[in-house]
Amino acid sequence: MRLGSKDASVYVAGHRGLVGGAVVRALKAAGFANLVTRTSSELDLRDSGAVRAFFAQEAPEYVVVAAARVGGILANDTYPADFLYDNLAIQTNVIREAHEAGVKRLVFLGSTCIYPKLAPQPLREEYLLTAPLEPTNQWYAIAKIAGVKYCEALRRQHGADFVSLMPTNLYGPGDNFDLKSSHVLPALIRKFHEALETGGPVVLWGTGTPRREFLYVDDVASAVLHVLNTPEDELHQAAPGGLLNIGVGEDIEIRELAALVAHIVGYEGEIEHDLSKPDGTPRKLVDVRRLKALGWEAEVSLQDGVERTYRWFLESVAGA
Ligand SMILES: NC(=O)c1ccc[n+]([C@@H]2O[C@H](COP(=O)([O-])OP(=O)(O)OC[C@H]3O[C@@H](n4cnc5c(N)ncnc54)[C@H](OP(=O)(O)O)[C@@H]3O)[C@@H](O)[C@H]2O)c1
Repeated sequence: MRLGSKDASVYVAGHRGLVGGAVVRALKAAGFANLVTRTSSELDLRDSGAVRAFFAQEAPEYVVVAAARVGGILANDTYPADFLYDNLAIQTNVIREAHEAGVKRLVFLGSTCIYPKLAPQPLREEYLLTAPLEPTNQWYAIAKIAGVKYCEALRRQHGADFVSLMPTNLYGPGDNFDLKSSHVLPALIRKFHEALETGGPVVLWGTGTPRREFLYVDDVASAVLHVLNTPEDELHQAAPGGLLNIGVGEDIEIRELAALVAHIVGYEGEIEHDLSKPDGTPRKLVDVRRLKALGWEAEVSLQDGVERTYRWFLESVAGA
């Protein structure tokens, strides 16, 4: 059932995270005040008994699952068992107890790493489980695929109004700027900012030719609200299997992105390429026609998004 009344209780799992934080901001801005949240130290979602007790106590009507163990290639490679187990446990406990508690609609957030490594571009929802995954983050991807299939199975067996959203690469306020574990865009912002002091050069990984798609985190939150507000039949008609990609529908070369970030930060020094570092897959772009058919499109341009994110970085990271 679609999210209607502003008094409806909405549980946002992972409300302090990059995505969860943006969803809470968007719900509050839209006038939803009855929000239910818990930090991981208040409620470890890997603990099934604690999750059951939480649902019995709070009985939220709607749920957004934005809690997960998230990390870059190095972290996935170093802790494969934890990435598989933690994500399986977190999502399975929340999805199961939400169903048992009669939740009206649940939105499960995954990521486009669920799609085959060499799938045609742009990535369509139909490509799920049609070929092998990218090995470096397969542990995380397998867990997310299980979450997508669990939501689909609950709909098939019980008619549960549970859907899965697969955002492309995200960035924005609340992102991780630690160069050891961050994604490419926040890493570029930090590197160019620090080079303002040192004078550079700034060294980029690989050739700079791979193409990537970047979505501002507040756009993901608006997509989550749009899906929560879409009538049930319309939603499941547009998304067979309850699966929807979220993206911009256009991508950019990494070296073009670096030039854009350098310009916004005000860096005019040298940019070099470390060719000993991997490029990763040549291109990663999602097909967003299903969500477009439901009337949603991204609004924040990359230029605007990077400017806002750099402002947040200056206030909350560099200035902290
Ligand atoms: N970041 C991206 O580029 C990206 C791209 C596509 C999809 N996504 C998807 O978006 C979702 C959220 O990612 P994110 O980037 O927002 O991650 P994040 O910033 O790392 O936030 C993860 C959240 O999960 C919570 N959490 C982790 N383990 C928990 C546990 N055992 N019990 C309870 N809470 C736990 C954390 O809670 P505390 O803060 O309280 O510890 C944190 O708030 C993920 O499913 C991810 O697949 C992210």
